[in-house]
Amino acid sequence: MNQRSDRYPLPMRLLHWMRATLILALIALGWAMTALPDSIAAKFEWMYPVHKEFGVLAFMTGAIALFVRHRSGVPPHPGGLARWETTLSTIVQYAMLALAMVVPLMGYGMSSSFSQSDGVPFFGLELPELLPKNDHAFAIFAWAHKTLAYTLLVLIALHVLGALKHRFLDRGRDADVLARML
Ligand code: HEM
Ligand code: HEM
Repeated sequence: MNQRSDRYPLPMRLLHWMRATLILALIALGWAMTALPDSIAAKFEWMYPVHKEFGVLAFMTGAIALFVRHRSGVPPHPGGLARWETTLSTIVQYAMLALAMVVPLMGYGMSSSFSQSDGVPFFGLELPELLPKNDHAFAIFAWAHKTLAYTLLVLIALHVLGALKHRFLDRGRDADVLARML
């Protein structure tokens, strides 16, 4: 079994679950809102603005998490993991850390460059749109935002399956990574 000292520090655990909730909710909302016809008032009245402001919040939470991670470091892998498991989980974690920052940046780039954008709200504030209006750039940002968001979802699925495998299939070896994050 893992010792308590193998757990991630409390700030990292809190930030991890905040981000997990935010990101999964943003993917669900993004998927749902884009599937709706434009005639549904809720689509542009609150779904797009809420997606944007919580998306910016996810970016900020991600930046804080990277800072905390850099300061506190990550506990060493439990001894019962095979080499391929530690390599794969490290690659997936780095890819998620990167995509969790790049996806909201692409979203901001999309909203900021779109000539008919309603702006980027942030809980009562209106964030500046720093990019020049350019619908060609918008199309590229939109493509990148969508493709990378669903790539992130695939990685999250792999990540969760890995955690479940270690908890339920690897009983008896020192491999329960989930306990480190709870
Ligand atoms: C981690 C943060 C974010 C995630 C995971 C995320 C995820 C998604 C997903 C899955 C979609 C649906 C794509 C589709 O099926 O067409 C979407 C759409 C969208 N997102 Fe995000 N998003 C994030 C942050 C942001 C931010 C920060 C903004 C803007 C400031 C933004 C603006 C948009 C817009 C405008 C759409 C609709 C695109 C369209 O109408 O085709 N997103 N997002
Ligand atoms: C509900 C779904 C999730 C579960 C069950 C889960 C579970 C876990 C577990 C058990 C660990 C510890 C792994 C270890 O000790 O090696 C971990 C670490 C990690 N998770 Fe998740 N996770 C989830 C969602 C996410 C999401 C959405 C992200 C996207 C940003 C994410 C990013 C990370 C990262 C980057 C680490 C490594 C620790 C760090 O560097 O902060 N997880 N996760």
